[in-house]
Amino acid sequence: MTAECLVCKTPVEPFLDFGQMPSANAYLTADEFANEYSFNLAVGFCEECLMVQLIDTNSATNMFHQDYAFYSSTSKHMQQHFADFAKTIQRDYLTDKDSFVVEIGSNDGIMLKNFAIEGISHLGVEPSHNVAQVAIAQNMDVLVDFFYQATAEKIIAERGKADVICAANVIGHISDIHSVLSGVSCLLKPKGVFIFEHPYLIDNLTKTAYDQIYDEHIFYYSVHSVKNLFKVHGLELIDLSHQNVHGGSMRYVLAHEGELTATETVMQQLSFEVEVGIDQLKTYQQFAQNVARSKQELLNLVRELKSQGKRIVGYGATAKSSTVINYCGLTPDDIDYIVDNTPAKQNKYTPGAHIPIKAPEEFYADYPDYAILFAWNHANEIMAKEQEFVQNDGQWISFVPQVKICLENICLV
Ligand code: SAH
Ligand code: TYD
Ligand code: ZN
Repeated sequence: MTAECLVCKTPVEPFLDFGQMPSANAYLTADEFANEYSFNLAVGFCEECLMVQLIDTNSATNMFHQDYAFYSSTSKHMQQHFADFAKTIQRDYLTDKDSFVVEIGSNDGIMLKNFAIEGISHLGVEPSHNVAQVAIAQNMDVLVDFFYQATAEKIIAERGKADVICAANVIGHISDIHSVLSGVSCLLKPKGVFIFEHPYLIDNLTKTAYDQIYDEHIFYYSVHSVKNLFKVHGLELIDLSHQNVHGGSMRYVLAHEGELTATETVMQQLSFEVEVGIDQLKTYQQFAQNVARSKQELLNLVRELKSQGKRIVGYGATAKSSTVINYCGLTPDDIDYIVDNTPAKQNKYTPGAHIPIKAPEEFYADYPDYAILFAWNHANEIMAKEQEFVQNDGQWISFVPQVKICLENICLV
């Protein structure tokens, strides 16, 4: 299957094809099994603009709606991360008392609330009604809608232009990225900045974190692809900083071309990316081989433990786990259930494999022998609070960066 690059229209071939996969955040009830959506999950690399991207995509309204399952504030570590992120933005870019900040994909208000508390004029744009409602209930200003060019025009008419537009874990989720960026470009004041974070492609590659690949993740950004994409909209990459969240993310700062001076860091990271072959198809072909090996190793381990009669559960019904479970062909015979602290996911089933999701109380009541850490990006937070599992002879299994049983309660990523 060949597709047109969503950025520059060059033909793109898949370098990795997982076959038919469900929508990763579509947890379901038993009566919904018969009508489950699926699509061909495959990723390609555009040799022209260097964007890594999905070949086939799910529709935005199928993924983001009134029952969106991911609530950002389920992680305390992420709450702290966004409090720090908001503080940095305020200190560096919201220095005027009338400053106005817009957040794209504000979810339950995990970042936005920090601006609201400081009395900063703010607006979240969030299409998933249920999560937006959590923020609205706490008196945050939220427009329940998708952010596109037309949304930006509406905001300008009603609230004026923004000093800062920020976004986390959403700029890779929107296939009509050109409409988003032309909206950003017109909504931003001449000296304004657009700041966004996203899992970093190099971390995905080096950690064989293929579970980051699922329907919501349409684009897999490198500094190269960000630079090329934003240039089309007159936006220049002026700064970046690596963040230790979601398994390794990059924070990008963009400004109108020629308005602000770029730091040395941008050039340095571009050189580093060339050294590790970010511009070479063979880098991605190697990744695909690593993914196939990782699958085999996880299957071997699970089958070996099951043959010894061990009880295995999953920890964290993450969107990422959908790709691992369905690609590896794991079933409820392998994994009894997955424990998750999100009420909206509990007592539903995972997409595709239909593994039951349970509240933490089930886990505490009768610890299993092993827990596969599907939320490996939250390893520190989870392991710190689940000491008792290990004290009861439970062991953690991780598959990023390698498939292994973790010793001494540490799954370093
Ligand atoms: N920023 C949060 C949420 C990330 S999940 C965090 O980092 O934890 C992605 C969010 O983006 C979802 O809440 C989804 O509803 C929202 N979203 C998806 N498409 C969007 C669009 N076009 N405009 C604004 N938000 C969008
Ligand atoms: P996350 O890895 O943040 O994202 P994604 O779904 O995009 O892969 O999801 C973490 C999931 O793990 C979420 O459903 C909440 C759950 N979770 C727990 O159950 N307990 C915890 O202590 C933490 C931090 C998360
Ligand atoms: Zn391209």
